[in-house]
Amino acid sequence: MNQPLHDRGVISRYKAYLPVTEATPVISLNEGSTPLIHSPKLSERTGAEVYLKFEGLNPTGSFKDRGMTVALSKAVERGASTVICASTGNTSAAAAAYAARASIRCAVILPAGKIAAGKLVQAFAYGAKVVAIRGNFDDALRIVREFGGVDGVAIVNSINPDRIEGQKTASFEIIEELGDAPDIHILPVGNAGNITAYWKGYREFQSAGRSTRRPRMVGFQAEGAAPIYLGHPVEPHTVATAIRIGNPASWEGANNAVKESGGCIDIVTDQQILDAQQWLASNEGIFVEPASAASVAGLLKCLSSGRCTTCPLPLRAGGKIVLTVTGHGLKDPEAPVKHGGFAPIEADADLTAVRRVLD
Ligand code: F0G
Repeated sequence: MNQPLHDRGVISRYKAYLPVTEATPVISLNEGSTPLIHSPKLSERTGAEVYLKFEGLNPTGSFKDRGMTVALSKAVERGASTVICASTGNTSAAAAAYAARASIRCAVILPAGKIAAGKLVQAFAYGAKVVAIRGNFDDALRIVREFGGVDGVAIVNSINPDRIEGQKTASFEIIEELGDAPDIHILPVGNAGNITAYWKGYREFQSAGRSTRRPRMVGFQAEGAAPIYLGHPVEPHTVATAIRIGNPASWEGANNAVKESGGCIDIVTDQQILDAQQWLASNEGIFVEPASAASVAGLLKCLSSGRCTTCPLPLRAGGKIVLTVTGHGLKDPEAPVKHGGFAPIEADADLTAVRRVLD
């Protein structure tokens, strides 16, 4: 890789595939290039090669940075002085960080009381103006859409196509690392921008001759926030606050990805999500936030009895499955602490007492 040290983000690596020109100022935090980590235990359980694309290792701890570098660069190019977004927490963290980097203002509209602690702190720390509405993400996005015509203000939700463009680069990285597209790609679905973006990335790299095939796209929603699975908007409820969305903006994009790829949208319960989160941390050493664990929960569900008739599992030996784990576990410590009942064992400050506890 020959990029200079000060710019190794997704725009500099994939500019030929992105809507940027020489005139676009690059607002980057060296996002992307996240590890594709082999999972020996999931591989053993599936009979395929399973990899985890750990997007929690982006600069603000989630995949949103890929889209935000493009969205902020284009917003600045067009002369915006403010960016605004609705968010369940990660989009707002990324928007605030990239706005800080660009020296422009950022306003974030969040559902009050439903944002994980780490994400809320990020928005404040990066200097955003934070508004908590008495409503859910869908209400917040409705309000943000109404800012569409305001001069100097750019919306940086995934209804902004620049976000999708940036996020598709994760597919490029996966193809480059594996040498081709995987057989199946599994990811959590909330507002459905990411599944839309991945599918776009897979199609574009195949058209460009960089891969010979495309994966089946499989998305998992939380059971209490599963509008696409159910086929109608819902009042969302789930412990996975990042995907607590009842009326996704990219609904059609998700449906197209699934239809064109021969994949599916399925659901996992909160219990399955939290169990998968803990399983992944304690078995593979990868700590992700609850929403991210939906992809792992989904794979484990597909392996268990009672899976749906269209399920392509088990795969032929040597088949490849990639799961995107979208955000870092440290963003939302509350849910796993509650679920796992985690508490240290107290002991007196001497060797005998500590050994007694450890034995
Ligand atoms: N995983 C995490 C950690 C997320 O933050 C999100 C979405 C998703 C999965 C789902 O991705 O919306 O593209 O289908 N978070 C948005 C936000 C809604 O505001 O941070 P999606």
